[in-house]
Amino acid sequence: MNSGTPVFEFRKVSAYRGGTKVFDGIDLCIERGANTAILGPNGSGKSTLIKLLTREIYSVHSPESSLLVYGRDRWNVEELRSRMGIVSNDLQQDYGRHARGREVILSGYYSSIDIWPHQQFTPVELAQAEALMQELGIADLAERKYGKMSTGQQRRFLLGRALVHAPEALLLDEPTSGLDLSATFQYIDTVRRLMQSGTQLILVTHHLHEIPPEISRVVFIRDGRIVAEGEKSALLTSVRVSALFDCPVEVVERNGFYQAVPGE
Ligand SMILES: Nc1ncnc2c1ncn2[C@@H]1O[C@H](COP(=O)(O)OP(=O)(O)O)[C@@H](O)[C@H]1O
Ligand SMILES: [Mg+2]
Repeated sequence: MNSGTPVFEFRKVSAYRGGTKVFDGIDLCIERGANTAILGPNGSGKSTLIKLLTREIYSVHSPESSLLVYGRDRWNVEELRSRMGIVSNDLQQDYGRHARGREVILSGYYSSIDIWPHQQFTPVELAQAEALMQELGIADLAERKYGKMSTGQQRRFLLGRALVHAPEALLLDEPTSGLDLSATFQYIDTVRRLMQSGTQLILVTHHLHEIPPEISRVVFIRDGRIVAEGEKSALLTSVRVSALFDCPVEVVERNGFYQAVPGE
């Protein structure tokens, strides 16, 4: 389903991190409705791409360049949250250790880190936070301090924080890295349910195994360039994945999931 305005569209976008030019005129369009994985090795620019969307960094200004999010070149991050929920690894690192589980979820309403005395929550918002914790299987951790949760528990709370606005799209950065098998499977299962109920997933990763069957499009990124994009089945082949990661990889598919094993 490609309906109208893309989720985001980069046209000739250049961006620096410190003194490094990560993107030199990159073009990338993520259509509405297409569950997409952006796959690339370490250092290829995946986190930089997310930071451009969250405006933690800005692209180099030039007349031919534009970066549109839902068709707009000016957006504020708070406003965007209701359309696109973003869970990045940096957020997980930076989130306040002392906030309790319930407060992590509620902080989504203000896009804040922790909640603050001046912030008011309506009975509906409070009830939604409880319902989300139930749905994500973390209700028993509502009083637990964030700093005392496991990586997997923290990530579920941050997902809940992104979901308070019931966003149209979710952008997840390496969502299962650092999680054990059971936490990984649980997380993938939750994300699959969200896709099945109509949330668009945009997944940024270097792990093939976290690409669920519902993902239909794949974008390959390498050295700050989009090197391929298309249907998942055409891209996730041994030859193409080996070229992307610059090492011999055998790609194995099972039940709609993919794994990479060392190739010949
Ligand atoms: N703060 C920084 N200062 C300088 N270079 C950086 C900084 N952060 C990232 N880079 C460089 O930018 C490039 C892209 O990094 P990043 O977007 O984090 O890649 P990925 O998320 O795909 O691993 C890498 O070459 C990395 O070394
Ligand atoms: Mg990264």
